[in-house]
Amino acid sequence: MVFNKTYPLYTVDCKGWEIVGSIKPKCTPDPVVEPIHVSVAYRHPRSGCIVSGHGGPVKYSREDNPTVLGLEARLAVLENAGNLLAFNSGMAAISSLLLAEALEEQLIVPWEVYGGTSLLVKELSEHMKIRAIRVYPDTQSIIDTLKPGSVVLLETMTNPTLKIVDVDEVIRASREMGSTVIVDNTFATPILYKPLDRGADYSVESLTKYISGHNDVLGGSVASNKDLSHVWKWRTLLGGIIQPAEAYLVERGLKTLYLRFRKSSETAVAVAEYLEDHPMVEEVFYPGLSSSPYKKVADRLFTEKLYGGVVSFKVKGLTMSNVASYLSRLTLITPSPSLGGTESLMTYPVLSSSKYIPSDIRSKLGITENLLRLSIGLEDEQAVIEDLSRMLQQ
Ligand SMILES: Cc1ncc(COP(=O)(O)O)c(C=O)c1O
Repeated sequence: MVFNKTYPLYTVDCKGWEIVGSIKPKCTPDPVVEPIHVSVAYRHPRSGCIVSGHGGPVKYSREDNPTVLGLEARLAVLENAGNLLAFNSGMAAISSLLLAEALEEQLIVPWEVYGGTSLLVKELSEHMKIRAIRVYPDTQSIIDTLKPGSVVLLETMTNPTLKIVDVDEVIRASREMGSTVIVDNTFATPILYKPLDRGADYSVESLTKYISGHNDVLGGSVASNKDLSHVWKWRTLLGGIIQPAEAYLVERGLKTLYLRFRKSSETAVAVAEYLEDHPMVEEVFYPGLSSSPYKKVADRLFTEKLYGGVVSFKVKGLTMSNVASYLSRLTLITPSPSLGGTESLMTYPVLSSSKYIPSDIRSKLGITENLLRLSIGLEDEQAVIEDLSRMLQQ
């Protein structure tokens, strides 16, 4: 509520809704936390000033909303971005951005990306004017495919086997070629990597994961140093703006992002080392392990010696038919598909995030029937290890 104005006082009886007076708040509180603005419509600021468009006065909450603008301003600082738009999910952010940026263009996307992104790219190339080229997630394969005008969409760490493409190198080559680079930075977060600082055109985050961090809200963002009016247009047309209450929850999560990300990452190192020594574990994927082929590039790209809270691993003898019995032995970790929240979650990629990858390519990527993906939350390190030990008992 704004405190220097009057608000209608209404009554509802059998005749309907009736205004019977007005109220003016008596005092002017000064809240520590920004209020949630629930109004869908806003009075035009001046008579005759009924402008529409990105950056204009707030007038309708499908276009802009004061709570959302507050969140966007704070996320823009985190991303070091001139402009940022918040969406009601990571997929809403990615789909609006691709519609705004990649129509009529060649879109290069590594095979190993989030399943929703994979399916979106497939649908867009089958039904709309986007020519998708899928490539192996290695730096040279991506660079070799670049053409002037093409758009590259890549993830800072791949999902689920945590490969790390040299994103800096792809950005440099794209600049030379005249291509556009979109980095889905969800797994690394701006704590480890700020795509725009490295020269990317767009940075995308699923705010659902680490940034909100409590497994209780969906959100997404697109950040850029370019004008975002074309993306704003698609957000408005598709109705993809984040809702004010959700924007508030993301903003609340943002305050503890660094603390949570550091704790999850530190536990993840201990868990990855434990799994590496376990006799039932065939292979561990974690860029923070000294044995990881991606440790060197991670240390070069990331601005902190942290590697995130996701650890993937292959279990000897685990198959599609016995995976449920392994997962049922977990008591602390929840078998569930998301990541980056306070609760540890474990998922089975071949039936979830990676199910849209053709099976021959999936096995070349190392996404096999015995692979599990663990997202580590804020629980005690020893408790997580004990739960894994219970699950791996023969
Ligand atoms: C890397 C990545 N990008 C985007 C998304 C989509 O985010 P959302 O679920 O918020 O739509 C996900 C979801 O898991 C993801 O892992």
